[in-house]
Amino acid sequence: MECPRIFIFFLLSAILFNYTNDVSINVAATNVGLNYGLLGDNLPSPYDVISLYESIGVTKIRIFDPNTEVLNALRGNRNISVIVGVKDQDLAALAASEVAVEDWFATNIEPYLSDVNITSITVGNEVIPGPIGPQVLPVMQSLTNLVKSRCLPILISTVVAMSNLGQSYPPSAGMFTPQAREQLVPVLTFLSQTNTPILVNIYPYFAYSSNPVNISLDYAIFNTKDVVVEDGTMQYSNIFDAIFDAFVWAMEKENVMDLSMVVTETGWPSAGNGYLTTPDIAATYNGNFIKHVESGVGTPKRPNCSIEGFLFATFNENQKPAGTEQNFGLYNPTDMKPIYKLF
Ligand SMILES: *[C@@H]1O[C@H](CO)[C@@H](O)[C@H](O)[C@H]1NC(C)=O
Ligand SMILES: *[C@@H]1O[C@H](CO)[C@@H](O)[C@H](O)[C@H]1NC(C)=O
Ligand SMILES: *[C@@H]1O[C@H](CO)[C@@H](O)[C@H](O)[C@H]1NC(C)=O
Ligand SMILES: *[C@@H]1O[C@H](CO)[C@@H](O)[C@H](O)[C@H]1NC(C)=O
Repeated sequence: MECPRIFIFFLLSAILFNYTNDVSINVAATNVGLNYGLLGDNLPSPYDVISLYESIGVTKIRIFDPNTEVLNALRGNRNISVIVGVKDQDLAALAASEVAVEDWFATNIEPYLSDVNITSITVGNEVIPGPIGPQVLPVMQSLTNLVKSRCLPILISTVVAMSNLGQSYPPSAGMFTPQAREQLVPVLTFLSQTNTPILVNIYPYFAYSSNPVNISLDYAIFNTKDVVVEDGTMQYSNIFDAIFDAFVWAMEKENVMDLSMVVTETGWPSAGNGYLTTPDIAATYNGNFIKHVESGVGTPKRPNCSIEGFLFATFNENQKPAGTEQNFGLYNPTDMKPIYKLF
């Protein structure tokens, strides 16, 4: 099949990359980015964090709101691009007024355009499906008009969770929930028109931890080559691909064909839920995810369409809810040491 357009570039970069078995991760040439969450009271300064990214070769990051300290620390940096989020609590005001969107842009994005590589703006993080889901599309439309009228190469999209899927097994049965059909499908149709990827968060950990009896750990962490799920002619040996493809099938049922998907979050906690969350398992999942992206094989439904993805997250964040949520980090915030060796 033909890949949705945006993937072609990444397929090339996957072929050209060159990886090492370093002590620290080498996500650089792999096209894997990192989420930079800031919900901690013990995080290093953004300048130190940017230096960390440079030392491990990270070239893409995502921040959840237009944090001035982070954006200032990125000034002049030609090597790191950034996805910037609109805060969910700002959506209501922005959805109500195009002038408010212009003001938001002038305050939060404009000041950095000359020397920060802002590649995308995300409107809402996992708010579809939900009570403020309907606010997403009008804000996306206003921002799209704004960047178009100024010829800025900034993609406008939204980040959605797999809770939009009412059914995901087998992948070909993938279907959106009724609320997702109302809120998400118009967004997907709009993204098709602007040729912009939908951004999705895919966490095999949550699927696995909800049913560790019937889902094998190896299937959840890309640790087997065996076919675990057969779905027509498609064969699945990892749950990540199965979830990804279920979303593709669900889009197709809504007549949204060939819309590309970027995985804005995936990861595995290293603690917080007993034997399901150890540093070893987290290292295996994240390392195998990087290899999966590097391989360029895509998924059974989108073969050879290289996946673009971001790991969640850079640091353990102590102001998130207690338990696994605080333990998705690759690095310890207090000494900036890796929590486990990737590879
Ligand atoms: C960007 O990367 C190049 C090549 O790796 C390096 O020489 C340069 O110092 C980097 N620039 C910045 C601002 O980090
Ligand atoms: C910004 O980042 C993107 C993606 O990482 C890259 O393709 C582009 O060349 C960068 N732009 C500049 C001006 O450095
Ligand atoms: C696991 O599979 C068995 C056998 O198919 C089934 O009876 C059981 O309900 C499943 N358990 C869960 C938690 O889905
Ligand atoms: C994927 O790429 C490989 C290597 O180029 C090729 O042999 C294979 O036929 C391709 N598969 C599909 C389904 O396009």
